[in-house]
Amino acid sequence: MSPDVISADAPILGIETSCDETAAALVCGGRTVLSSVVSSQVDLHARFGGVVPEIASRAHLDLIIPIVAESVVSSGLSDSDIAAVGATYGPGLVGSLLVGVSAGKALALAWGVPFVAVNHLEAHLYASLLEDPDLEFPLVVLLVSGGHTMIVRMDGPGVYEILGQTLDDAAGEAFDKVARFLGLGYPGGPAIDRLAMSGDPAAINFPRAMLDDGYDFSFSGLKTSVINWVRKHPEVEAVDVAASFQQAVVDVLVAKARRAAHDTGARGLAIGGGVAANSQLRESFLDVCVRDDIRGFLPSREMCTDNAAMVAAAAWYRLNLDGPSPLDTGAFPNLALA
Ligand code: KG4
Ligand code: ZN
Repeated sequence: MSPDVISADAPILGIETSCDETAAALVCGGRTVLSSVVSSQVDLHARFGGVVPEIASRAHLDLIIPIVAESVVSSGLSDSDIAAVGATYGPGLVGSLLVGVSAGKALALAWGVPFVAVNHLEAHLYASLLEDPDLEFPLVVLLVSGGHTMIVRMDGPGVYEILGQTLDDAAGEAFDKVARFLGLGYPGGPAIDRLAMSGDPAAINFPRAMLDDGYDFSFSGLKTSVINWVRKHPEVEAVDVAASFQQAVVDVLVAKARRAAHDTGARGLAIGGGVAANSQLRESFLDVCVRDDIRGFLPSREMCTDNAAMVAAAAWYRLNLDGPSPLDTGAFPNLALA
């Protein structure tokens, strides 16, 4: 397909089912969000302390068509206005991905429009661009989610270089594991974020692994340090543990993203993924952008966590770069960004 087949005012339906959010959205030209509906399954998984894959895929099956219908109705459009369908095909939970990919392919076939397989990580990269029309490349993006932590240099749509990534736990995984240890339940990131607001971030000096060492990350030692500290100091206040742990994560994320932006001569610094909803991270990120006089792209919290608007945006760029995906496209749980 030639690059100009899908115009910037043609609505694309995005579908996201990679983990425990069932989401659908209509977006034009990778920028204009007409509707974005997200149904979280948090209540279904909370009592198990994490996402149960079988429960997630069954819930996606129940929800996918009603959520797509809601996104179409709330956009004010009808099915016949939709120019293409994009769905996340990886990385993620295989059963969950299959529900979204199958629904996306079926709808595209029924409506006679192109289907586009979307990489979930690429979709997170587009979330900041979706809300900021003034973006300029090259851009350095700090992508921090439950499954991934990476610093990506983006030279344009579809042109990425991974500068560094976590060698063990993802940042969101560290939040979730520490929260579970502290008995804060699931999902852990928002719970630690809330608790940390009443704590002292300097109360405990947790390690900042690999702070001055390249762009890779390591968070599993930090998690172990928190556990050992609490076991040795049972009297410690949970608010101070949460605030000090969060500060240690944020310090490393921000220091490396800042250094990457500086070293690569980036014109902007963006942030994406569920952990980018973290209050302390958002504050430090903006602070650094002001201090370094670099253009910062900070998506709204709704755009940081899993949603389908970012999938529809990525689908528009992918469609114009590569054309439609074949209808025998499957789901790829370990799909890489580049
Ligand atoms: O991007 P996302 O919604 O799903 C994945 O693709 O993984 O990210 C989910 C992760 C979870 O680990 C969750 O605890 C974390 O993002 N998270 C947060 C916050 N909100 C979500 N972590 C820290 N602070 C938050 N406010
Ligand atoms: Zn995600």
